[in-house]
Amino acid sequence: MKLYKKAAILGGGNIGQAIANGLVSSNLFTEANIYITKRRIDTIKNFSERGFITTQDNRSAVRDAEIIIIAVQPKQLDEILQEIKSEIKEEKHLVISVVSGASIMAIKELLRKNIPVVRAMPNTAIAIGESMTCISSDIKTNGAIKIAEEIFSSVGKTMIIEEDLMVPATALCACGIAFFLRAIRAASQGGIEIGFHSEEAIFMAAQTAKGAASLLLNNDAHPESEIDKVTTPRGITISGLNQMEHNGFSSAMIKGLVTSAEKASKLYKNE
Ligand SMILES: NC(=O)c1ccc[n+]([C@@H]2O[C@H](COP(=O)([O-])OP(=O)(O)OC[C@H]3O[C@@H](n4cnc5c(N)ncnc54)[C@H](OP(=O)(O)O)[C@@H]3O)[C@@H](O)[C@H]2O)c1
Repeated sequence: MKLYKKAAILGGGNIGQAIANGLVSSNLFTEANIYITKRRIDTIKNFSERGFITTQDNRSAVRDAEIIIIAVQPKQLDEILQEIKSEIKEEKHLVISVVSGASIMAIKELLRKNIPVVRAMPNTAIAIGESMTCISSDIKTNGAIKIAEEIFSSVGKTMIIEEDLMVPATALCACGIAFFLRAIRAASQGGIEIGFHSEEAIFMAAQTAKGAASLLLNNDAHPESEIDKVTTPRGITISGLNQMEHNGFSSAMIKGLVTSAEKASKLYKNE
């Protein structure tokens, strides 16, 4: 089922490409219905070869699409909004920004149009339909947030949150991909030291991490209740776990998240 005419992803970088892949695998759009824009167009030749419309021309992409997904760096946002604003039409366009730290009000002020603007914070797992995407809009009653929710629900899980929580969501969900990947890498390095080849250790660590996450998501469980099931008195798991805590395991994760959130809150204004 195709719901929408065309989408334009302005800024075909890491997250822009992941969104493009996710939208196609969700079956909401075909490759031919998705524009991906970029200045160094040669770097996304593989997308044009697959049937996506790739161009450097942001304005023509906006003219032809109805869903506009802005995926540039915060420092590139003002310029691209100035460039496209004459092509943005009320009653036609929905703008979805995934740009960290840029508020809906700031985007609307630059566009100077009465159009729905939704902020979304996906992560790169959107490419395989496993994103955690937080969504926010200043107006909750129009259809825009429903459309954004429908699009992002097709490529993972969604949560509608207040706009002032979008920056914390960036740290927990977008940066979070890297945090959990580093945890898996660390586990695999330990696995190598205790006897496994690296490819075996990565696979075993990743599948174990997936299993742990699924225990929570499928059973609506709390991490500690699942940990209780594998920590017997004087046992091997609690010894290892406590050793990790003595070395700051939980504290390191919390401090890292807080640091990322603080930095994300200054991104748009500072750059
Ligand atoms: N990466 C993530 O996991 C993630 C998750 C959620 C949100 N975000 C947010 O999404 C945004 C993009 O992040 P990213 O990691 O994808 O960065 P990125 O890889 O640097 O992508 C940005 C892309 O925008 C393109 N671009 C810059 N100016 C442009 C213009 N005027 N017209 C068309 N394209 C232009 C750049 O390519 P050219 O230089 O070739 O033009 C670049 O590939 C950021 O605001 C980030 O905070 C990222």
